[in-house]
Amino acid sequence: MLDLTINKVHDEARQGEAFAPFADDPNQYKKRFYIESYGCQMNFSDSEIVASILNESGFGATRNYEEADLVLLNTCSIREKAEQTVRKRLTDFRKIKEGRPGMLIGVLGCMAERLKAKLLEEEKLVDMVVGPDAYRTLPGLIEEAETGQKAVNVLLSREETYADISPIRLDSNGVTAFVSIMRGCNNMCSFCVVPFTRGRERSRDAESIVKECRDLYNNGYKEVTLLGQNVDSYYYVNEEKDEIVNFANLLEKVALISPDLRVRFSTSHPKDITDEVLHTMARHENICKYIHLPVQSGNSRILQLMNRTYTREWYMAKVDRIREILPGCGISSDIIAGFCTETEEEHQDTLGIMEYSKYDMSYMFFYSERPGTLAARRYTDDIPEEVKKRRLQEIVDLQGRLSKESNEKDLGKTFKVLIEGNSKRSDNDWMGRNSQNKVIVFPKENYNLKKGDYVWVTVNDCTQATLIGKIQKLEA
Ligand code: 5AD
Ligand code: SF4
Repeated sequence: MLDLTINKVHDEARQGEAFAPFADDPNQYKKRFYIESYGCQMNFSDSEIVASILNESGFGATRNYEEADLVLLNTCSIREKAEQTVRKRLTDFRKIKEGRPGMLIGVLGCMAERLKAKLLEEEKLVDMVVGPDAYRTLPGLIEEAETGQKAVNVLLSREETYADISPIRLDSNGVTAFVSIMRGCNNMCSFCVVPFTRGRERSRDAESIVKECRDLYNNGYKEVTLLGQNVDSYYYVNEEKDEIVNFANLLEKVALISPDLRVRFSTSHPKDITDEVLHTMARHENICKYIHLPVQSGNSRILQLMNRTYTREWYMAKVDRIREILPGCGISSDIIAGFCTETEEEHQDTLGIMEYSKYDMSYMFFYSERPGTLAARRYTDDIPEEVKKRRLQEIVDLQGRLSKESNEKDLGKTFKVLIEGNSKRSDNDWMGRNSQNKVIVFPKENYNLKKGDYVWVTVNDCTQATLIGKIQKLEA
């Protein structure tokens, strides 16, 4: 099997997780729901909003779908494989539903939005289909489904940001949290289904974002990641205060909550990230020096077909600018292999731009045609699968080398690390991240540290994916 990614997050293979956010007596709830999330961080964040809406209407969560009255799958459509994973998962639930006919099954998220009522015909066991902007109507839809009717709401909104809903943190480590700052996307990259599944771009009220981040900090969280499909086009007009807040302004507002609260963000579109954002990052130690800057392709003709609105040279100049204003900043990317009509030389340009940008990490995919997108309508998906896979493997291999080289450069350096929990391998080791988003594992020794603490760690070894270190000193 191809190893398609390194540390991938926007990953259809990132399996759904079930959660039990409520520690109190489960019997206090009239019904129980089980939710699994697939796809991007935004979807995981949306599931926390859904949990909050359901909790308000008397539902408690369970980790065990066999005892749930309501099973929800929050789905992703970004690649065909993502949808196949969900379809397979639905067959698991079919058996359970046969034994428990009262159990309701709901499909949420991007697949719900893309397929709409058609999903009910194709998957007979599904009772509800609910798009990403319709979660407030879930309680009513559940009531409708309980009467035996199928319930669908896939209306997209120009305003909905769920700004007033306090997400219930699901399966949280208590240290890091995602905060959604905008929804939708206006970019129309030709390969991408997101504008169709998540609708028009809209920014969430800045004050509600700052309040959510402050509440998280007051509850012991030490890191927030501001989430949006295209965070750099964040733009909120506060009419009461006669104030305009752009992304740089928002970053600053969140950074000022406390120097002890780390701030991250994802995802940036290379065309929109401004010098103002880079300078704001430079000014605040607690804004992490890490930028996810998806290139998609290193060839200008392909970039044009993709409707990315920048050229190879323009992207390279952006990387230069980041290195100039933020020396030592981590940069990662998303890369698509085998887009329509891509030649071998054009593929070589992608390898070349990876070398130039020296990505610390990348999420790598081969092109998967999505119905309804500009590319599906306009271009032929003409690169044979074996060629796509071979090109992808070359990209994966190169990224492996670049990641290793990047980690080797850190040998001997000392980083401020936020402890996120025990290392996966051993309870005697901590796992944390540095500002550049690299994972560092190090022995606990006899220090009295806990997760959520900052500590200085010197790197003495590494693999392709992880830095290995030793505690240098405690945070002053
Ligand atoms: N095929 C392959 N990869 C895709 N992505 C988005 N749409 C497609 C597609 N049709 C990738 C892009 C994007 C990431 C989230 O997923 O690289 O940045
Ligand atoms: Fe998948 Fe994109 Fe929807 Fe996220 S926004 S769930 S990546 S299709």
